[in-house]
Amino acid sequence: MASITERIRDLVEAAESQIPTMRHAGALEAQRVRLLGRDHGLLTAIFTEIGSLPKDQRAAAGQAANEAKRRIEALLARELAALDADAVESNLKQREDLTLPPRPVRIGRLHPVTATIREVSRIFGTMGFETIEGPEIETDYYNFEALNIPPGHPAREKWDTLWVSNPLGDDPKMPLLGRTHTSPMQVRVMEKRQPPIRVVIPGRCYRYEATDAIHESILHQYEGLAIDESLTMADLKGVLYSFARQVFGSKSNVRFRPDYFPFTEPSAEIAFSCVICDGKDPRCHTCGGDGWIEAAGCGMVHPDVLRRVGYDPDRYQGFAFGGGIERLAMVISGTPDIRLFAQNDLRFLESF
Ligand code: DAH
Repeated sequence: MASITERIRDLVEAAESQIPTMRHAGALEAQRVRLLGRDHGLLTAIFTEIGSLPKDQRAAAGQAANEAKRRIEALLARELAALDADAVESNLKQREDLTLPPRPVRIGRLHPVTATIREVSRIFGTMGFETIEGPEIETDYYNFEALNIPPGHPAREKWDTLWVSNPLGDDPKMPLLGRTHTSPMQVRVMEKRQPPIRVVIPGRCYRYEATDAIHESILHQYEGLAIDESLTMADLKGVLYSFARQVFGSKSNVRFRPDYFPFTEPSAEIAFSCVICDGKDPRCHTCGGDGWIEAAGCGMVHPDVLRRVGYDPDRYQGFAFGGGIERLAMVISGTPDIRLFAQNDLRFLESF
């Protein structure tokens, strides 16, 4: 076996050839720990060994070990200083012309769909509606069945559905789809909470659509739901009129017409007067010339929907409404084509 002095010499030689090649302070520190570290340093171990040598060998070995320690420490210090100097040097070389005018900072902005969602939430918030969100991938049950649209119901044809398959395996009893509207959240909320309920749910929906100026296969809706002990159609009208006034100002008019939805009874359609032409331009692109822009479906929540979530319809009633965010954004901003919202064309987005 090599003698202690030989091993000390080998350690110093290895250190002297390796340490100068290291380019990072971290690597130098790792070497220091490896050689001189208090617990497991190689040289530290040798010092311990020296303590148990026969007396006559101790002095020479101790001297050699001390000398080795001094050299290694000096070497590490020298290399660390050299790295520091290099860093200063290369910083100094990077000259910057501080007299140049600053580059313009491009500040982003909210996408018009996001801005509209926030505005809708803010306005309904002033009337006590809490904003919540729900899943974009939905089950057949919540999207259709719980809303009185069983398999085979003709209303299913109104929603051109995009079915999705589950990568973990499909459950034939629970088909999945990209939700075609935000209405399934009515049921999810009622299952979780007890009245009084006042919520608004903005979110993305999916439909198998041929796109045109007013249809997109990915769209956003806002859904509203209010359940309490004495709500009537008058409350629904009041809330939606107030919404229209806050979005379009006091000159806007609201039209309420009977409509049909399986999950509300009675159901209605609400339209806002055209803020672009005020009904005066028969060729208006925004309203198509009739002066009204269909904005939302609405109605009193169907008693069967209430029963399904365990509410007693003799005690609780409520209203619901659902409209398109892009439609609203189009009217607010005078945007002629819904497809512009998803094209990511900065010339369009920066105009907001
Ligand atoms: N979910 C319907 C649609 O996408 C709109 C709707 C109608 C929502 C009536 C409602 C409602 O909450 O009560 O066409």
